[in-house]
Amino acid sequence: MISQTTIGEILSRIDIVDIVGGFVKLKKRGANYLGLCPFHNEKTPSFTVSPTKEIYKCFGCGRSGNAISFIMEHEKYSYVEALKWLANKYGITIEETFTTDEQRQQMQVADSLFIINTFAQQFFTKQLFETDEGQDIGLSYLKERGFREEIIKKFQLGYSPEKRDAFAKEAAARQYNSELLLKTGLVVNRNEQLQDNYRGRIIFPVHNHSGKVLGFGARILKSNDKAPKYINTPENEIYVKSKILYGSYFARQAIDRGDECLLVEGYTDVISLHQAGIENVVASGGTSLTTDQLRLIKKYTNNVTIIYDGDAAGVKAALRGLDMALEEGLNVKLVLIPDNEDPDSYVNKVGPSVFREFVQKNKRDFILFQLDVALKDAGPDSTKKAEVVNQIAETISRINKAEDFTKQQDYIKQCSEILKIDESGLHALVNKFIRNRIITQEKSLPFEEARHHEENAKKAQETDYDDATFDLLFKDELQERELARILLEYGTRYWDDRQLIAEYVLSEMIDETLLDNPDIINLINVIKQQLQIAPQQLNKNYFIYHPDSKLGSLAVSLLNFPYEESEHWKREYSQATGYQKRLFEQSYEEFIQTVARDNDQQLMRYLKMDEDRTHEEVESALNYLKLRKIKAS
Ligand code: UTP
Ligand code: MN
Repeated sequence: MISQTTIGEILSRIDIVDIVGGFVKLKKRGANYLGLCPFHNEKTPSFTVSPTKEIYKCFGCGRSGNAISFIMEHEKYSYVEALKWLANKYGITIEETFTTDEQRQQMQVADSLFIINTFAQQFFTKQLFETDEGQDIGLSYLKERGFREEIIKKFQLGYSPEKRDAFAKEAAARQYNSELLLKTGLVVNRNEQLQDNYRGRIIFPVHNHSGKVLGFGARILKSNDKAPKYINTPENEIYVKSKILYGSYFARQAIDRGDECLLVEGYTDVISLHQAGIENVVASGGTSLTTDQLRLIKKYTNNVTIIYDGDAAGVKAALRGLDMALEEGLNVKLVLIPDNEDPDSYVNKVGPSVFREFVQKNKRDFILFQLDVALKDAGPDSTKKAEVVNQIAETISRINKAEDFTKQQDYIKQCSEILKIDESGLHALVNKFIRNRIITQEKSLPFEEARHHEENAKKAQETDYDDATFDLLFKDELQERELARILLEYGTRYWDDRQLIAEYVLSEMIDETLLDNPDIINLINVIKQQLQIAPQQLNKNYFIYHPDSKLGSLAVSLLNFPYEESEHWKREYSQATGYQKRLFEQSYEEFIQTVARDNDQQLMRYLKMDEDRTHEEVESALNYLKLRKIKAS
């Protein structure tokens, strides 16, 4: 854990324009900075950075956040990694606190494993390029397979000599701890001696997303029935197979740029495609995809194209576990490489442009592909066909996020055509699966929440949201957000010479139980507490960088800019009856009168400057609450 002092120091140094500007070319536009969004492809800039609010927002793709989340998103770092990056940038020494000895030990082991792996990678590369054995056996093999020197260097490939202990000796000379060496899998214990584990093999270092070496895949050179083709690093503190995507470090930017991730099976597939200029590619490592791997992909893009060789076993393995991909809203496409080739051999055979074209032309939708395979399997048997219908309905029912609604409808249409069944029938079946799942999930939910879910599910089934229904559903939500925004944006300004705006709002707020949004209620409670302790710390940074990440992201989303006036509020006001309208206006009127009567200089100044707008906003937010109170009673 990074200490609070260090975090404080980092936060005090953060300059969002400087940080984002390191990655995006920014131009000043009024109070803000504008540039091309690094998160999606665009030709006209819609990526905005506000130095005063310390946040960014892209009006093209909607991504927004603070300096830390920018680094997290852009570099795919965790929160802690982002802090470390910033500390490094600003030359701040990190003070770490450890909650337990065990944690400290684990971090130390992980650090040591990285150090040994880096050393080993350099050793193997040196063997490949600078020794006779490496050149004659290793390098010539790689070149024969068509890998050029620059790509071999980029992926840091290496060669492990035949000698029994070439690496072990070097490692011993550097006094690496033998227990740690064994953990890396680079050496094994034979008769109380450490011996090399990858003797006479080509070495493929496996990097994490920031380029550190997690472990290795070591490929045998000659085909040999007895020895395994690849030996991989055993699971340890840093090498967790289910969470590794080979090539992610080299692919990240291309994936971001193209908003698509190609997924292949093996090391050599990734490297050959890179060499062919196709860089948005990662490998799963020959087993079926894990949930963690899919989550990693989802950090970069929602579009996955699986490119596998056409043999059935491999494809079946790949497709296992993809239901989760659908639930997560990933769009999965599939391309099968013909004639017993794999992507590596195929791109070498036909060349980059034919390969690209082949992929483009043969991209199949994963669900439709599954349906095809199942239908072929079923043949003319009608019971089996009914099973297929059931299965596909279940699959489609998993596409169940509100934003994927049209996608689901499309599938129902297409699949019913392929199956030659009635569209509404398939529709009903899909809905049945959705309902069943909701019911099973509900059993574990408290009653209120369950009812909420049920209502939402019903609404989702009945209507495709148009703007009007959306308004109706979320009107109050927007008003609440408006209130919270005012607290964040103006909370520490003075309302009058006695109290802060936050204090005024909270004292005037009749009853916060009238609010619906639990995050906003939480925010208000935090503000209340903080007002007691250190009111002036309640600036927006306090929330943007709040350790409770829910509060942090709420703050960022509330402070998005430019500020758009709530249409709902205006409508509410215009539809109010005479009595309500008077209520709306009353307190603001009163306020003006007081100011005029007391000739309060400070308040007059507020009114003349943009502060009058602040007061207006505060009052209208409070009036909203009054109106709700009237409605509730
Ligand atoms: P492949 O057998 O397709 O190997 O296994 P490949 O990557 O195409 O290698 P070449 O082209 O024959 O040299 C695909 C992936 O499965 C994993 C490796 O990650 C490999 O890249 N694998 C395969 C193993 O981990 N162990 C094995 O014994 C075989
Ligand atoms: Mn291959």
